[in-house]
Amino acid sequence: MRKAAPATISACPKNDAGRVTLPRHIQTEAELEEVLTRPRAVLVEFIRTVSSPLVILGAGGKMGPTLAVLARRAAEAAGHPLDVIAVSRFRNPIQLAWLQAHQIRTLTCDLLEAGAMRQLPETENLIYLVGLKFGTTQNPAATWVANTLVPARVAERYPGARMVVLSTGNVYPLSAVSRSGSVEEDALTPSGEYAYSAVARERIFEHFSRRNGTRLALLRLFYALDLRYGLLVDIARKIHDGEPIDLTNGFVNCIWQGDANEMVLRALSLTNSPPAVWNLCRPEVYSVRDLARRLGKQLGQPPQFVSKEAETALLGNPAKLCSALGQPAMPLDKILRWTAQWIQRGGRLLDNPTHFEVRHGRY
Ligand SMILES: NC(=O)c1ccc[n+]([C@@H]2O[C@H](COP(=O)([O-])OP(=O)(O)OC[C@H]3O[C@@H](n4cnc5c(N)ncnc54)[C@H](OP(=O)(O)O)[C@@H]3O)[C@@H](O)[C@H]2O)c1
Repeated sequence: MRKAAPATISACPKNDAGRVTLPRHIQTEAELEEVLTRPRAVLVEFIRTVSSPLVILGAGGKMGPTLAVLARRAAEAAGHPLDVIAVSRFRNPIQLAWLQAHQIRTLTCDLLEAGAMRQLPETENLIYLVGLKFGTTQNPAATWVANTLVPARVAERYPGARMVVLSTGNVYPLSAVSRSGSVEEDALTPSGEYAYSAVARERIFEHFSRRNGTRLALLRLFYALDLRYGLLVDIARKIHDGEPIDLTNGFVNCIWQGDANEMVLRALSLTNSPPAVWNLCRPEVYSVRDLARRLGKQLGQPPQFVSKEAETALLGNPAKLCSALGQPAMPLDKILRWTAQWIQRGGRLLDNPTHFEVRHGRY
């Protein structure tokens, strides 16, 4: 079994290419964004193989903006001409302005609108980030339509492109912690309508990939870590505010958002028909109790806990992706320290709690 505290899977080779000096403190959003979008040498090398333009659909959310700028900075460092086009509804105008200020071309478009597909640019390289999760309990129909109708239209619009499609670890059921996480071949029998719709998103892309020969990589992402949102932010905020942490869902997978974005881009090299499927997270299974204790030490405040760890959790094993692309580079110690400092300093947070405690699949 993989240990609950950091323990490395030996199948994952070390990936030291492009290791860079990391700051001790991240004080501002500009500093954070600089770190999140700083390309490693391995990405600079890879980006030369990506023909222009690179189109990112659903680019206005939590991951899209830094993903787009990471790709642009890698292309610049490679001296490779690459237009990056970010497509979203951009309900958050800050994301739109930020992308434009960072030399990303933007296209404001609701992909559910009639005629939306005709507005989209031609491309051979597409990253698909569109999704809806939170609010499913209140409006399940909106989740189903976002996670099924948009995939069908996009897959039909781009039969000849290489596509990296973001999916989620939520497609798996809870599994025994002792099993070290679900693997890609496991049955997709999750709980709750959001998870069913995420399975449907995968199956729709798979259908069109098989029918049209479209080269796809489906990435089942577990928690991405930013300093403005994510699992560690949720835990650190609870400690800081003196709120108890529910340990029932006691084990998790996660990954620094910069590493996740780098792997998303490099996964263009892993596309295939029928589609290749990959779990995306750090190779360790982390104990929530241990993460909270380590954050509590940094914050100078001991965490309070309620309940105790169940024997099952929502876990994935990313050994296959790690052996294809190498291990995620950002050390967890750094992320923990930066997160605690960010919370102590009152850094800006997005209002997007992960609800990592949820075990019934209702979001
Ligand atoms: N972040 C994580 O920790 C995590 C974990 C597991 C899986 N994932 C998956 O990875 C993907 C990217 O993650 P994220 O955190 O960036 O997700 P996110 O914040 O929810 O962003 C998704 C984006 O899709 C856009 N979108 C939804 N419906 C659309 C439509 N009809 N037309 C145009 N755009 C539409 C949204 O539009 P607006 O532009 O209007 O906001 C939003 O910006 C998602 O599919 C998510 O499920 C993420």
